[in-house]
Formats: sequence, C-alpha cells, structure tokens
Amino acid sequence: MKRPGDEAGAAAYLPRQSSLASLRNAAAKCKGCDLYKAATQTVFGEGPSRARIMLVGEQPGDAEDTEGHPFVGPAGRLLHKAMKAAGMTGGVYVTNAVKHFKYIWRGKRRIHAKPKRLEILACRPWLEAEILEVRPAVIVALGATAAQSLLGAAFRLTKHRGTFVSSPWPCKLLATIHPSAILRAPDEAGRDAAMRGFVADLRLAARAARSG
Ligand code: URA
Ligand code: SF4
Repeated sequence: MKRPGDEAGAAAYLPRQSSLASLRNAAAKCKGCDLYKAATQTVFGEGPSRARIMLVGEQPGDAEDTEGHPFVGPAGRLLHKAMKAAGMTGGVYVTNAVKHFKYIWRGKRRIHAKPKRLEILACRPWLEAEILEVRPAVIVALGATAAQSLLGAAFRLTKHRGTFVSSPWPCKLLATIHPSAILRAPDEAGRDAAMRGFVADLRLAARAARSG
C-alpha cells in the first residue's frame, strides 16, 4: 500500500531516535524514490560507528545488490586494494550516496545506470544521518555523484579532485575518482596511472585522519 511520503524522499522514513542500527533497519524499508522497486534490497553503509574516515561511493552495483553489502564487487576489490596501498586500514566506514541499485537489463545482465539528480537528493537524508552518527574526521567522496550529493550540483570533480574543499560538513572533505573509473581505463598504462592517482588521494585522506 502506498503511504504519504512514498517516493518523496527518504526523510519520511528516518527513525526518530537515530543510531546506526536503527538507521539501517529503517533504510531497509525505504520507498523514498522509485529505485527500491527493481532492486533486491537496500545496501546501507558499513563500518565502525566511530570511524575516522568515511568513504562515500555512488550506489550499489550488481554484486552489492545481491549480497547486501557495499563495495563487494569488482570496484570494491579495487577500492580495498587501493586503501591498503594508501595505508588506510581499520576505522573506515563505507557507504554510498544512493542506497538502491539502479540498472538496465542488457540481455541477461544488469548494467549500472546513473542515478538522477532527484534520486540522489531523495536518498541524501540517509547519507546525512550516517555522517551525523559516525562523525568521521575525514570524508572521501568517490566520484562525481558522491561529491555532488555532499557538495551540491555545481561541484566540479575535475577541478577540485584530490584537494580538501570547504563544505557544510563538520569534517575535512576530499573528492577523488570513483574506483570504477580505473576499471574503465583503456589500457594497462592508463589503469596504472589512474590507480596511482587514486592511492595518492586516499593517502592524503588517511594522513589527515591521523593528524586530527
Ligand atoms: N560502486 C559504488 O559506488 N558503490 C558500491 O557499493 C559498489 C560499486
Ligand atoms: Fe530510499 Fe534511497 Fe532507496 Fe530511494 S534509493 S528508495 S531514497 S533508500
């Protein structure tokens, strides 16, 4: 049954008393936009409740949708490799700007589809609640969707990538590429270069988290 608030954003689904557990439970029932309809489940953020670093991706992919955990597919494997290379171990909370997988069918495969501005906005209350709950020292936006959810549609990743930017959030914030951009590089040299740049950005974030 459709209720008032359905598909008008996640705000109507936020629990009154927030903790990561209550947020996760409430998000599992979210109908704040149309994306819940075709997806298997809500993929909420995961990690320590007082993580120093929060990584924000775009949305779950095919593997994440099936398994119910963020960054467990090919992009996730690359992310974890880069985190290790950057000395970013432990104390990291990983989440996404949009919590349901958006895709189109191509034959028998589900292909990632870019979330619309309205879907990103609809899902933003979950991300905001996660930030207020975890209170990380550093947020890393992985890719343009995360950056624009956190910093507004005018933010240009190409211009500010790899630098700490001023933001409305009570922490340091740095935007970098999405790990799937590394997978999309046309050749091995391109992939290596993209990976090196990505690791360098994560290293900046890890260092900033250690220094307070
Ligand atoms: N890409 C993302 O942005 N997030 C995930 O969780 C997986 C892939
Ligand atoms: Fe709710 Fe976000 Fe899923 Fe839309 S994508 S239904 S706002 S959790």
